[in-house]
Order: sequence, then C-alpha cells, then structure tokens
Amino acid sequence: MKNRFDVTIAGEINLDLILYGLPEVMPLERELLASNFQLTLGSSSAIVAHNLAALGVSVGFITRVGDDALGTIAIERLAERCVDLTCVKRVHGGKAGGVTILLNHGGKRHILTYLGAMSEMTARDLDMSYLASGRHFHLSSLFLQKALQPDLPSIFRRLKAEGLTLSLDTNDDPEGRWDGVLDELLSIVDIFLPNENEACAISGKADVESAIDALARRVPLVAVKCGKRGALVQKGTRRWMLPAEAVTPVDTIGAGDSFDAGFLAAYLHGEAPESCAASGDRIAALSTLRAGGTESFRDSELMGEFLPRVG
Ligand SMILES: Nc1ncnc2c1ncn2[C@@H]1O[C@H](COP(=O)(O)OP(=O)(O)OP(=O)(O)O)[C@@H](O)[C@H]1O
Ligand SMILES: [Mg+2]
Repeated sequence: MKNRFDVTIAGEINLDLILYGLPEVMPLERELLASNFQLTLGSSSAIVAHNLAALGVSVGFITRVGDDALGTIAIERLAERCVDLTCVKRVHGGKAGGVTILLNHGGKRHILTYLGAMSEMTARDLDMSYLASGRHFHLSSLFLQKALQPDLPSIFRRLKAEGLTLSLDTNDDPEGRWDGVLDELLSIVDIFLPNENEACAISGKADVESAIDALARRVPLVAVKCGKRGALVQKGTRRWMLPAEAVTPVDTIGAGDSFDAGFLAAYLHGEAPESCAASGDRIAALSTLRAGGTESFRDSELMGEFLPRVG
C-alpha cells in the first residue's frame, strides 16, 4: 500500500532513567543522593517516532522489544501518540529490553546504556513492504543496531528504489570507529543529521564548517546540530546557520532527536533547507523544556503555548 505513512522508522526503543543533581565525579562505596528523577521514553529512534507523531506526522514504527515491564511502558508511550505499532516484535525469553541511565550534570551528562533486545533486531524482523509504505524512511543510532547493520545498505537501496526519501542520524559510535556500513549508507541517503562531534569524527575534519563541507559533497542535504549554538545546514555549496531558540533547558536529553523530528516534519511539507533547520531548532528547544526527549510532547498545554509563539 503506497504512502500509508508519512514516515517509517525501524530502530531501538527503551526507557531513559534520568537522575539529576549527582556529582560528575562519583566516589565508590558511598550513597550518593540525586535531587530529582524521571522515567521517560528514550532512545533516538523511538523519540523521533514519538515527536514526529506529536507534530501530526503519521509514523509506522518497527522494533524488537522484550516482554518485560519496561518494554511495555515504552511501547505504551508510542501508542499514546498513535504511532502505528502493528509490526513491532515482542520477544519472549530473549534478552531483556535495553535501558539507558542518564546522569544529568547541567549541560553535560553521563549516558550509560544496556543494549539488551535493541541490539538483536535483524533484517528478518523487518516487514519490508510495511517500511516501503511510507514517503520517507528514517534510521537513528546506526551503531546500536548491531545485528541489523550488515543488511542496512540493501534495505536502504530497496526503499530508495521504491521511491522513499531516506534520512540517517548515526548518533554516537560507542567504539569510536565510525566504520562498517556507514560510508555506503552516506552514498545512498538524502538527508544526514549528525551533531557537531559526529560530523567531525566521520569526515575526519577538525572544525564543523570543514566537516559539513566534506559531508555535503557526499549527501544532498546535511544538517549538523551544534547544541546551544543551533544548527548548520548545507545543500551543495549553499550553507545556512540557524541559531538556537532562547530557552532555559531543564535538560537537553533527546534534543538532537527532537531536532530530527522538527527538521523532517518541515522537509515532508516541502520546506527549504533553512526553514527545515529552523523547525528543527524550534522543536529541539521545545524538547529541552521538560525532562528527557519526549515529556514536552506529552504536555499539550506546553506545546500549544510554545509552537504558535515561535512558529
Ligand atoms: N541550550 C540549548 N538551548 C536551545 N536549544 C538547544 C540547546 N541545546 C541544544 N539545543 C537544540 O538542540 C539541537 C540538538 O542539540 P545537540 O547538538 O545536543 O544534538 P545531539 O548531540 O545530537 O543530541 P542527542 O543527545 O539528542 O543525540 C541543537 O541543534 C539546538 O537546536
Ligand atoms: Mg544525536
């Protein structure tokens, strides 16, 4: 069925357990008290799906998730936003679902992830005709999709041949290698959405301007997220810097994934690169106003106040 969804996503889902107020250097064998705690939907792929859907984009999501309580809560969060979950695989008796524990220290954070079931999804878990039934396919967290990775070039090629546009946000490579299928995927995707450190590591350049120039020779549209400075976007040799919105963040967890959602929502409306990036900045800023990457998008009052104000 053609264009059943605006966007299809195959990727990881897990909860974030966020602790605030802990010291950056933590002595062993001491009881350290956090000042606050939040349990929320995390993981780049699921955050992008959740926030796209909150922006009115129809999303079909495939994941492999354990049948444990954390997996159930995570899936419920997507269901609340009406993300289509008909092809989600609940696995019984395999690895438990993954989890991320974040220690938020002002602008910086420790990010501790147990991959669990999220690293076990393979091409066999994917219904390709379901994924092809969107206008656009997005992939996040390339280096966490360990079992899926080898098949991604052929999956991307098939979806491209079916007429979908493709976007990729690698997020961090925990091994710091930036290799494997990445080069091949960059030669296929339409949109690449790294942050500044990732752009520099992947291109081998020392500064973000040289990095985006090098990446824009390989990918038609590149947006590099630069934290509180905003985002750079480049198409061919034309480049725009879009400053971040002025906000006082609760935390910036998931801001990059929220940027992706804002950028893609505008892209799917046919907007120009600079207005896609401005939309990314706006939605990322909204994300920072509540804990984690999805709580702002569950607060309809906040969304109602924030989006018209800066839209
Ligand atoms: N302090 C801030 N104030 C306003 N906007 C911010 C702030 N920090 C980040 N942003 C917005 O969030 C976007 C993404 O941030 P960042 O560069 O941290 O991405 P990331 O490292 O990919 O994040 P993630 O941890 O979600 O993967 C920025 O481009 C900007 O629009
Ligand atoms: Mg990111």
